[in-house]
Amino acid sequence: MDYGIKGRKAIVCASSRGLGRGCALALAEAGCDMVINGRDAARLAETAAEIRDRFGVRVTEVAADVGTVEGQRALLEAAPQPDILVNNNAGPPLRDFRDLSRQSMIDGVVNNMVTPIELIQAVIDGMAERGFGRIVNITSLSVYMPITGLDLSSGARAGLTAFLAGVARPVAHRNVTINSILPGKFDTDRIRANIEHGAKKAGVSVEERRKQQIAEIPAKRFGTAEEFGQACAFLCSAYAGYITGQNLRLDGGLFPAAF
Ligand SMILES: NC(=O)c1ccc[n+]([C@@H]2O[C@H](COP(=O)([O-])OP(=O)(O)OC[C@H]3O[C@@H](n4cnc5c(N)ncnc54)[C@H](OP(=O)(O)O)[C@@H]3O)[C@@H](O)[C@H]2O)c1
Repeated sequence: MDYGIKGRKAIVCASSRGLGRGCALALAEAGCDMVINGRDAARLAETAAEIRDRFGVRVTEVAADVGTVEGQRALLEAAPQPDILVNNNAGPPLRDFRDLSRQSMIDGVVNNMVTPIELIQAVIDGMAERGFGRIVNITSLSVYMPITGLDLSSGARAGLTAFLAGVARPVAHRNVTINSILPGKFDTDRIRANIEHGAKKAGVSVEERRKQQIAEIPAKRFGTAEEFGQACAFLCSAYAGYITGQNLRLDGGLFPAAF
């Protein structure tokens, strides 16, 4: 499908691996030039090379921590007038909420709420002036459905969701949209690490834990970064200008609700 965004410029945060990488690949397939990001420069360079080879688009690598002021500055210097912003960052580690220090709670809120808001502050007016903007935030199904041990992730992302619900409406008439995608369980390094942690805690093998998690999902499998990326590319497409302020659950049916 032609998404109508060939030649658009995208910033895809935290995109050297996993879901962010899935979004970068799908946007590249749609013809977007882009800035990609991650802290490990070597891993980032591999992903950049793959995107250039496969899709022939322009890719700029910004090896930096997106949660820092300097990291954000570097991203914005590499693409001062982006048409598309995909907000992503690592989530907080699995931890009993009793063990969270004040500093770790502040870090979680900065990484998963403040950082995407700061990037949106920097790009939204330019998008509105130019009459095109697509902002997609990678959050989590935990916004709807609590996951014990990921309470900080749920709280920070729910805060982001509520914050952006108000931000999205005033720019909708300028063809600027803000939506979030809420992953359920996707087969990435992040979920593999969580499964290992859960297996150790429950005293079962990693394979057993993986099977247990898959059994709970109506689709009977984890999602792939590729299908996540394609959903993101559609929300960034020329045809998605009437979809804004939405939270798209991508979870293989895991969240049991009619609405
Ligand atoms: N996978 C799932 O099923 C799932 C479910 C719910 C929510 N989520 C959320 O979705 C987001 C993406 O998850 P994922 O599964 O794709 O994770 P992942 O496979 O661990 O990939 C994380 C990516 O982010 C980059 N990154 C991490 N911290 C960064 C930082 N401070 N600055 C810049 N880049 C950074 C990593 O590269 P470097 O390490 O080199 O920096 C890597 O490219 C996370 O917030 C996660 O909590 C995922």
